Amino acid sequence: MKMVRLLLISVATFCATVSTVSSSCSPSDLAALQSIKTGLIDSSLGIFNSWVGTDCCVNWYGVSCDPTTGRVVDINLRGESEDPILTKSGQSGFMSGSISPKICSLDRLTTLVLADWKGVTGEIPQCVATLSNLRVLDLVGNKISGGIPADIGNLKMLTVLNLADNQISGKIPASLVSLSGLMHLDLSNNQISGEIPADFGKLKMLSRALLYRNQLTGSIPDSIGNMNRLADLDLSRNQLSGRVPDCLGKMRVLSTLNLDGNSFSGQLPASLLSNRGLGILNMSRNGFEGNIPDVFHENSYFMVLDLSYNKLKGPIPGSLSSAKYIGHLDLSHNHLCGAIPVGNPFDHLGASSFANNDCLCGNPLSTC
Ligand SMILES: *[C@@H]1O[C@H](CO)[C@@H](O)[C@H](O)[C@H]1NC(C)=O
Repeated sequence: MKMVRLLLISVATFCATVSTVSSSCSPSDLAALQSIKTGLIDSSLGIFNSWVGTDCCVNWYGVSCDPTTGRVVDINLRGESEDPILTKSGQSGFMSGSISPKICSLDRLTTLVLADWKGVTGEIPQCVATLSNLRVLDLVGNKISGGIPADIGNLKMLTVLNLADNQISGKIPASLVSLSGLMHLDLSNNQISGEIPADFGKLKMLSRALLYRNQLTGSIPDSIGNMNRLADLDLSRNQLSGRVPDCLGKMRVLSTLNLDGNSFSGQLPASLLSNRGLGILNMSRNGFEGNIPDVFHENSYFMVLDLSYNKLKGPIPGSLSSAKYIGHLDLSHNHLCGAIPVGNPFDHLGASSFANNDCLCGNPLSTC
């Protein structure tokens, strides 16, 4: 009983502290938010109707302050979410305009989310690289153009960088690899060109690297093999070439690897096909040649194994029939020849998995 009362008292004190201190908004933060509001046009939901008065810390939609300092720490504006303002209006939001560089005077900002508004244009202000407390920068799903700020590597606290589904161009800045705490990088669906930095593997905390649908050239840097937390690597639909480094197959937690739709060549690394943890492997639409390494085993477990549209020749490796599970197999559009192995993982596969090869035969194709 006593304990409960004590707890209630301390909660009450805490709330009192919060409400007295937070009822302020620093004049510089207020001015910055007003500039941001002026730069963006939300014609769908009217969320900026709540950005009125001088206390930006109370009831300004998407704005949060640190209760002790009264400084703005989060801007969280999503055009698609479970938020009542969106579900009530039964639509997803649309916003145009651009991000005011005045945002950079919000120097305590830890989260900047301006996501899925579809119509926000303009560039990412270069000065966001000075927001040294930033942990999350998420501008996915707009029409933002221009380059990634050159000094992005200064954001030592950054854990999430999501700029996917925009019109970002230029190269991956060399400084990006200094984001030593980065866990999630998504630059997919943009117009980013140039090479993946050779020292990309310095991003030791990275677990997802999504770079698909850009115009990246060059090859996969060997340093990627050192990324011990990388679980998901998607480089599909770029213009990458060269051989796939064997070290990718030795990565400890890699579970999804999509390299489809590039110009990779050489042999398929045996280490990739024998890897125990890799469950999704898409190598489709490249220039891989030679035989498929005969290295599958009783622990091979592929939800997806897509090797279609390459120049693979020789037989389908017999060891594939010892695999524990093959969900989706596509070996079509190659130069494979010989009898399709019989056994468990092949029983449920249709003819399309084997179509357009030189001389495959047996179930589900015609008898040999
Ligand atoms: C593999 O990649 C190709 C080419 O990008 C794509 O068409 C195909 O759907 C992918 N396979 C699977 C199973 O997702």
